[in-house]
Amino acid sequence: MDGPAPAAAPDRYPLRNSTEREGTRLSMLEGLGDPVTVRWFDRIGVAAGWHCAELGAGAGSLVRWLSERVGDGGSVTAVDRDAGRLRALAGRCPNVTVVEGDLCGMDLPPGRFDLVHTRSVLMHLPCADAVVAKAVAALAPGGVVFFEETDGAPAQAVEDPPPGYGLMVRFATIWRWARGLVPLLESLGMEVVEEDVRADPLVGGTPQAEFWKFTLGSVAQLGRGADASAGGADLDREVAAMTALLDDPDFSAPFTARHRVRARRPA
Ligand SMILES: C[S@@+](CC[C@H](N)C(=O)[O-])C[C@H]1O[C@@H](n2cnc3c(N)ncnc32)[C@H](O)[C@@H]1O
Repeated sequence: MDGPAPAAAPDRYPLRNSTEREGTRLSMLEGLGDPVTVRWFDRIGVAAGWHCAELGAGAGSLVRWLSERVGDGGSVTAVDRDAGRLRALAGRCPNVTVVEGDLCGMDLPPGRFDLVHTRSVLMHLPCADAVVAKAVAALAPGGVVFFEETDGAPAQAVEDPPPGYGLMVRFATIWRWARGLVPLLESLGMEVVEEDVRADPLVGGTPQAEFWKFTLGSVAQLGRGADASAGGADLDREVAAMTALLDDPDFSAPFTARHRVRARRPA
């Protein structure tokens, strides 16, 4: 697997895993997402001896789970642009290999994996189609890709957002990629086994709302860093208004649709 691209891709994902704050946010994400992901891994039949790739592996909870499931005869390749939180895992688990690099510029070994998985990664990448093509080529015959990525279609349809919610709509407007995943996989010769689309509203006072409050805090920090003048103050006001909505158990609004797609490379 090659290292980072000589020319880095445009950065649509400005958060950096190495900060303490981002470590907390990634843990919250794992707490919200892992139970569902693990149920899907079970349904897919991930088993001892499998060779797995976790792309955009973040803080590594799924790498740890896969490492235990596939055992000594299997392997887990964990890839991230910012792999600091994964290295300790590689030290502890002999079947884990960590690769630090930008997925946009990296090659994956052809015909190697029984499973390639992403969660909340491709939706942020300008090169997502190319990464999917590389993931497909990296599958052994009969191997499976499983993508869990978010689309902003429900929020994009909101016509008159309440004060503060415009901020969430702006995030969601960028997320348009996941809806095209099934035709993309079919065009690559994959057999799409299942697509599950869940459009859950964003509801105040829930663990998901807590995650978004924390994320908005990170975004506000970045905004202040980028523009300490007028724009920063506007962003702070929007974040405060949205935080109040997220604290309110009576608040509910359309936000995102989670696309979970699994597809098999014909044997
Ligand atoms: C929202 S986090 C998701 C982390 C993990 N998949 C999870 O669900 O717990 C997105 C991850 O993708 C990584 N990432 C973003 N852009 C990347 C790129 N171009 N190449 C490799 N990794 C990237 C980030 O460093 C981060 O770890």
